[in-house]
Amino acid sequence: MDGFGYRAWLQPSKAQLGFIPRLKGAKDFAWEECAHGLEALFGRKPTNRGDYTITLETSPDPAPEAYTLRGGPEGLTVTGGCEKGLLYGVYGLLSRLCLGEPVETMNVREKPAVRHRVLNHWDNANGTVERGYAGASLFFKGGRIGYDLVRLKDYARLLASVGINEICVNNVNVYRDSAKLLTDEMLPDLARVAEVFRPFGIRLIIAVHFDSPVILGGLETADPADGAVARFWEESARRVYEYVPDLAGFLMKADSEFRSGPAALGRTQDEGANVIAKALAPFGGNIYWRCFIYNCAQDWRDTETDRPKAAYNEFHPLDGKFDDNVILQIKHGPSDFQVREPNSPLLGAMTQTHQGLEFQITQEYTGQQKDLYATAVQWEEILDTPVTDACMTRDLVGHEVTAIVAVSNTGADANWTGHLLAQANLYAFGRMAWNPAQTAEQLTRDWAALTFGRDPSLVETLTSMLLESRHVYEKYNAPLGLGWMVNISHHYGPSPEGYEYMKWGTYHRATHTHIGVDRTTHGTGYTAQYHNYVRDLYESKKTCPEKLLLFFHRLPYTYKLKNGQTLIQYIYDTHFEGVGDVKRFIKIWESLNEKIPQDAYDSVREKFDMQLANAREWRDVINNYFYRVTGVPDDKGRKIY
Ligand code: GCU
Repeated sequence: MDGFGYRAWLQPSKAQLGFIPRLKGAKDFAWEECAHGLEALFGRKPTNRGDYTITLETSPDPAPEAYTLRGGPEGLTVTGGCEKGLLYGVYGLLSRLCLGEPVETMNVREKPAVRHRVLNHWDNANGTVERGYAGASLFFKGGRIGYDLVRLKDYARLLASVGINEICVNNVNVYRDSAKLLTDEMLPDLARVAEVFRPFGIRLIIAVHFDSPVILGGLETADPADGAVARFWEESARRVYEYVPDLAGFLMKADSEFRSGPAALGRTQDEGANVIAKALAPFGGNIYWRCFIYNCAQDWRDTETDRPKAAYNEFHPLDGKFDDNVILQIKHGPSDFQVREPNSPLLGAMTQTHQGLEFQITQEYTGQQKDLYATAVQWEEILDTPVTDACMTRDLVGHEVTAIVAVSNTGADANWTGHLLAQANLYAFGRMAWNPAQTAEQLTRDWAALTFGRDPSLVETLTSMLLESRHVYEKYNAPLGLGWMVNISHHYGPSPEGYEYMKWGTYHRATHTHIGVDRTTHGTGYTAQYHNYVRDLYESKKTCPEKLLLFFHRLPYTYKLKNGQTLIQYIYDTHFEGVGDVKRFIKIWESLNEKIPQDAYDSVREKFDMQLANAREWRDVINNYFYRVTGVPDDKGRKIY
C-alpha cells in the first residue's frame, strides 16, 4: 500500500537508532515483530555482529500481559509475563525508541488496567460499514467474509501495537447474512481471520442475532426460557469454538432500536444474557450484552417518558443476576454518543455486574471524519467525571469496569480512517484502554511525534490544535448539552428540529421563551438515578457544569450564565467563534505545509474545507433558528440570516 497514511503511527522513524541491534531470545513471533519493527522503523536489520543486545524473554507474571524494559550499557531486556506480554514489550520498546528515549536508561514496567480492550466494527456482510467514514469493510465483501490478507495483517499490527486485544468483526445490528457467522457456511472463513489476528494477541468476537434459534435453528421461538433455545446456543457455541478455539465471545444488541430481545418475549435481560453465557462458559467465552435500550417509538407529545432514564430503569434492578461471563456494555452517556452528555448513571451503579464502558471512535455525531475532533479529550473528561463524592469514573476501571470498548473508525481507505488526523483517535483509544491514567495531551503528543516525526514545533502545534478541536466542534454544534440538532438519519450537519417531532425520544422542546428538558427531581426525575452527590451537583443550576446546563435544565433564553452573558447571546457568540476557530485551524495547518508529506498535507487540507462549510452551515442554521424563535437580536449586530 502506498501513501503516507497507511503506516499510521508506525512510520519509519526520522531519528537514528544510535546502535546496531543484536537480538537474543527464542525466534518466535515477538522476535520476528521486533526484527521487522527495527528494520521498518529504523532501516536496521538486527545482526549477530550488533553492538547492542536486545534480549527477549518471558517470565511468569501475575499479570500475563505485563512487560518490563530494563536497559543498560551493553543491552536491554524485554520481559513479558507471557508471549503476549513480550509482544507488547516489543511494541513498547519500538515506540519509545521512535520517541527518542535513550535505551541504556530505560526502566519501565507496564501492565494493562483492564483485561478486555475491545474494538467493535459495525461492518455488514455486504461490505458496507454502518456509521463508517473510511471506506468499505476490512472484513466482508458481497455477503461473505472477504479481505486483503496483507492489509489485515498490517491492521492487526496497528491494533496490537496500542494494546487492543479483542475485536468484534461484524455490526451490532446483525442482519440475516451475518447471522450466519454461527454456521458452517461462514465459520471456515472466520477461522482464517482469527489466524491472522491470533499471533498479535487479538481474539475475535462475533455479534449474534437474538433470533438465531429461529433464523438458523428453525425453532419457533428464541425465548431464553425454552430448553430447545438453550440447546441451540450450546450447539452453536460448540460449533464456533471448533473453528475458533480462542474466540473472545459474542456481542448482542437486543430489545434495542426495533431489534428482537427477551423483553419482547416477556423475559428479562438477565434471562436473555445468561442462557447464552452458559453456552459460552465451557469455552471461556464472554457475552457482551449491550444496554442501549430505550423506547424508540415514543410520541413526541409524551413528556413523561425520558429516554436517558431507560437503560438504568431496565438494568439497575437486575444487578447481581447476570452470570460471571456476562459483560454489560454501556454507552458512556445516556443518550447516544453526543458531543456533550453526562455519564450514564449505570456506570458505578451496578456493583455485582461486570461492565464494559463503550466509546465511539467513529465520528457519527462528531463530524464524520470530515471535521477534526480529538475523541481522547472527551474520554478523559468522561473518566474524570465523579460517580460519588469519593470516586471518579476512572476508579471503576479494573474493578466493575472490566472492559473498555469502542466503535471503530477504520475502513478500507488507504489511510484507514478517512481523515488522516482521525488516526489519533484510534491510537489514543488503545493506549487509554491500556492505561486510563494517561492524559489526552500525552497521547496526542506521542501520536503526533510517531506519525510526523519529533520536530518539537510541529508536535506542539499539532497537539494543541487537536486538543482544542473537540471544543471547537462543540461551539458550532448544539449548545450546552442539548444534543441532537442534527440532520436525521445520516447525522451530519444541523437541523434544529430534525428530531423534534420524531419517535426517537430526543426533544429539546424549544418555545419562544424557554428551551431544554427539566431532568431534575422536579422534572423527569432523571437526576435521581445518580448517587446523591452527583444528583445534587446536576440538580442545581448553580452547581451543574455549565456545559451540561441544557441537558439537565429547562431555561429561559434570558438566563444569565456565570460570566453574566445571557443564554441566547452565548449561543450566538459560540457559533460565530466556532467558524472563526476553524478558519484559524486552516491557517495553522497551512503553516505546517513544509513539514508534512504532500499527499498527507493535501488530504487534510481538503477535509478542512469541508469542515469550514459544515461549521458555517451550523452557525447560520442554529443562529437563525434561535433568532426566529426568540426574536432577540445579536448584541454585537453580526449577520444572522
Ligand atoms: C446509534 C447509531 C446506530 C447504531 C446504534 C447502536 O443509534 O445511529 O447506527 O446502530 O447507535 O449503538 O446500536
